[in-house]
This record gives sequence, C-alpha cells and structure tokens, in this order.
Amino acid sequence: MSVEIRKYDVVVVGAGLAGCAAARECQLAGLKTVVLTKLHPLRSHSGAAQGGINAALNESDTTSHEFDTVKGSDYLGDQDAIELMCKKAPETIRWLERMGAVFSRNADGSIAQRPFGGQSHPRACYAKDRTGLTCLQTIYEQAHREGVEFLDEWYVGDVIYDKRTNKVNGVVALNLRDTQFAIFNAKAVMFATGGYGRTYKINSNAHANTGDGLSIVARHGLPLEDMEFVQFHPSGLAGSGILMSEAARGEGGYLLNSLGERFMAKSAPNKMELASRDVVSRAIEREILEGRGVGPNKDAVYLDVRHLGEAKIMQRLPELRDLAIAFLGQDMVKEPVMIRATAHYSMGGIPVDVNCHVRSSEDELVEGFYAAGECSCVSVHGANRLGANSVLEAALFGRHAGENIVKDIKDLTLKDAKVTDAQRFMDEVKWVVSNNGIQRVSDLREELQATMTENAGVFRDEKRLVKQKEIIKNIREKYKNIRIDDKSSVFNTDMQEAIELGHMIDYAAFIVEGAYARKESRGAHYREDFQQRDDENFLYHTFAVMDKNKNISLSKAPVNIGKFKPEVRAY
Ligand code: FUM
Repeated sequence: MSVEIRKYDVVVVGAGLAGCAAARECQLAGLKTVVLTKLHPLRSHSGAAQGGINAALNESDTTSHEFDTVKGSDYLGDQDAIELMCKKAPETIRWLERMGAVFSRNADGSIAQRPFGGQSHPRACYAKDRTGLTCLQTIYEQAHREGVEFLDEWYVGDVIYDKRTNKVNGVVALNLRDTQFAIFNAKAVMFATGGYGRTYKINSNAHANTGDGLSIVARHGLPLEDMEFVQFHPSGLAGSGILMSEAARGEGGYLLNSLGERFMAKSAPNKMELASRDVVSRAIEREILEGRGVGPNKDAVYLDVRHLGEAKIMQRLPELRDLAIAFLGQDMVKEPVMIRATAHYSMGGIPVDVNCHVRSSEDELVEGFYAAGECSCVSVHGANRLGANSVLEAALFGRHAGENIVKDIKDLTLKDAKVTDAQRFMDEVKWVVSNNGIQRVSDLREELQATMTENAGVFRDEKRLVKQKEIIKNIREKYKNIRIDDKSSVFNTDMQEAIELGHMIDYAAFIVEGAYARKESRGAHYREDFQQRDDENFLYHTFAVMDKNKNISLSKAPVNIGKFKPEVRAY
C-alpha cells in the first residue's frame, strides 16, 4: 500500500480548544500548520463544556484563584504552572472576547461570573450553559481565518519518535474516508487529543474520548503522569452520565436524598453543594450506598433547581433543561432531576513542562514534541480539578504551546520521514481487519468499562484494584482474539473502534497500577483502605512507563510546591 509523505512545519493532533488555539498561533507566525482530527473540529469534546471558564476578573490579584486551585488539587498541583495559569486567565478571557466569544453579561455590561465548586469567589465566566461551544466556535473560526489547514476524519495512529535522539518528527495517520495512510512529517508535533472518560461505563464524555493519544505515546516507552487521578463529576444524568453542569449548583441548586435532606451538610457544611467535585461525588455515592438513593433503582439523588424559577433557568441553564427532558423526561422547572457521579475528566496524562514540551523523564524533554489540554499533564489540577479550570487550561495552554512552538521552531530541524515509519500503524490496522477470532470488540469494551467503574471508580481498595489488574490482563488476552465484521476501506468504524479499544486497554492498566500503588486518599483518588492523605509518603507525581510486554513500572517525581504549603483540606 502506498504511503504519501506530506511536509509541514507544525502538525497538531486534535481540534478542540487546545489544538485550535495552538494551530492559530503557529499559522499566525507564518508556520505551515495542519490540524488532524478524527471528528469535525466543532464536534470536539471541548464543545461539551457547559458551565464556565475561570478568571479572577474582579479580584485585586490572582492569589485567591491560585490558592483555590492548589487546595482543590489536594496539594498535588504544580504551583509554578498554577501560578502561570491563574495570572494569564484574565487576559485569556479578553483574548477570547476580542476574537468574538460572546460571554453572558451583567446589567452594567461587564462579563457575568458565577460561583463554582471549591472556589472562594464567583469567577466562572460563562455563555449561558454553552461556554465550551462558544469558545470552540470562536477559536476554530479564527484559526480557519488565519489559514490553518484542517483535515477532519483523519485518524492518527502513531507518532514518529526516535528514541536514540529523543526527537519526534511527525505522525502517521489514515484517512477514514478511504483508509489511505499518510505520514505528516513536521518539525514540531503537538498532541491535543483530549481525555479518556470513555474507559468508564457511566461517563460524561463524547464517544470520541478514547484517549488514543496517551497510549500512542506510552507505546514508545514514554511516560504517562498521575494516571490514577480520574475525576468523577457529581452530576451526570442518571443512567447515561450526560453532564448536568455544576452551573446548576453554582446558580443555587440543591442536592437531595430520598429523605429530602440536603445531605452535603454532613460532608461540607460550609461549601455545601459547592464543595470540590471529589467531595461532592463521594457524598452522592455514599447516600446511594447507604440506601438513601432515589429513582426506581434507588441509584441516583435529586438535583433540585425549582426554587430558581423558570425565568432564571431558561436564561442561565437552558441546555441542562433540554437535556434532562430529552434523556429522562424530567423538566427541571417543575421537578427535581435524577443525577449521580459520572466519570468526567482525566487529571493525568502526557507529562509536559510549564511550556508544554513533552517530557521523556522527570528531567528530559522530547525534542519537537508538545502537548496541551486534557491529554497532557502540566499538573495544574493535581489530584482533583476545579470546575471551569479545564476550559481555561485548554485555551490558555493551547495558545501557550503554539507560542512556544513559534519560539522554538528556528532550533528544530525537519528530519525526513521514511515510508517505513508508517509500518507499525499499518501492521496494526492490517491485523485488526484480518484477525479471525471470536471476540466482539463491543463486548470487551463493555466489560472494560463496567469493571473500571466497579473496581477503579469513585471508591477504591486493594482487593478491587487487584481484581481489576487481572481483569485487564484477561481482556488483553481476549483482545488478541477479536474479529470485526466490516472489512471494507470506507469509513470503517468497526476497525476504528477496535483500534481505540486497544488504546483503552493500555491506559486503563496505567490507571489501575497507579491507583494500586498510591496507598493513600488524595483528591479524586479515594482508597477505602487508606482514607487519609499521606504527604510523608505520597506527595509525589507518579511517572509510569510500559514495556514491550505491556508491563508497567512506576517512579516518583517531585511536586512543585510554591507559596502554599500543604495543609488540611476541608470545605
Ligand atoms: O459542570 C460543568 O459545567 C463542567 C465544567 C468543567 O468540567 O469545567
């Protein structure tokens, strides 16, 4: 099969906020830039972010935003990166606004801000409850306007990485329209491939969030960082997990159990429904486990916003109302809606320095390789992310990655790619299409998702994690024996889903190994057998690498502690 080699200055993989923002910067600086995305850019998951984007617009400085973020991270966030993010946040809002993002306004014309969990000021700027979509449409439009080339429905299956020189010089992709392979040979490659919530059965993520970027990197022996920290958002619609934005609680919504109690009084008497997400998710799941759930299966709690009144609901939360009507037949204007915790966000990912350079170890950087957004771990979220800090992180660090590529590009060389660089991915596709086993991809995926939810979810312990390690090993064996029905080369989604499942199995193992080794509770990682945070033994980042036999080994990297020393975290 022929493989075309295309040459660029910069290849960006992923067209969400981070990818579009980076590509625009590069193109503006005159670099020939292409964005490869397996979806149309406007279907990227950034567009699903509802509630807001944080910035300390009306505060004397950004110290409080920094502190809230560090506390929210359960002191695992790197404070140099957090400081950079919080300091640049107000300017990022102005940048978005000047490009055309229409934020909701106060009566005096200033940008409206709503309270969000774990924060001491209302600092989530919003566009009704469609904030991510508004920002994504704006940045995509502007990147397009600058002449960025977008190739959608292209699936990237490998990165061209030379271990000897520790350098990346392109990616291997296939066109989903006709399964033609191409190499995108470039001086700089940036990954903005998003998160991996789809590893869990109940999740708020788009179908595309299969985390391929992470395992593409890990399969080259490069590390992933802090993979054990998976955020469960407190309010996913019961049954499906579809996001019911924290904005509902930010605007004043209550959480109620079957006795009609605002149960958050027990675990967060000060912040109540606006404690940080890990705290609220655990409280919800405890109510359910202890028999105070609602709904036919008693496996949900109520989110009640009726007291806000129809006018406010329609003005501030129209999308949430539509979603609850469409998926549960419940109209939040008239009745409470059923919600429960849903896998939402990956705090861990591809380790990067504060300028978005991918790390090959704690103190070495891969030349020509960058990452930003949810696939990356610059560690502004540590062990738990605050709501409305992810849209900020994606836009801000995406742009920052682009600026750094522009700075670095004069020192980056274009090493010519060879057709054989595509071999690894071509072999993978050939194997998936021709393998003649008996296992269904959908069955294995469902098994992985259900067991990850059960054994590596909101509550974890040694017994369940050991069991999950075995289950993953088993699923990996069964994966060798898959068979897909569609053997064609036109939009072969059967083939794509099989490849994605391979990635899911790989990084699920990272999540479980990290969670098993971290014998403490911190942020979103809660061990029932080690319920306290243990700074003496576990205040470190996990770096994990996978060998050729898929065995994972872990090492520790220091946390950047700045002006905020670890202290007890209570809300
Ligand atoms: O609840 C939400 O609107 C989600 C926002 C976020 O994850 O930042």
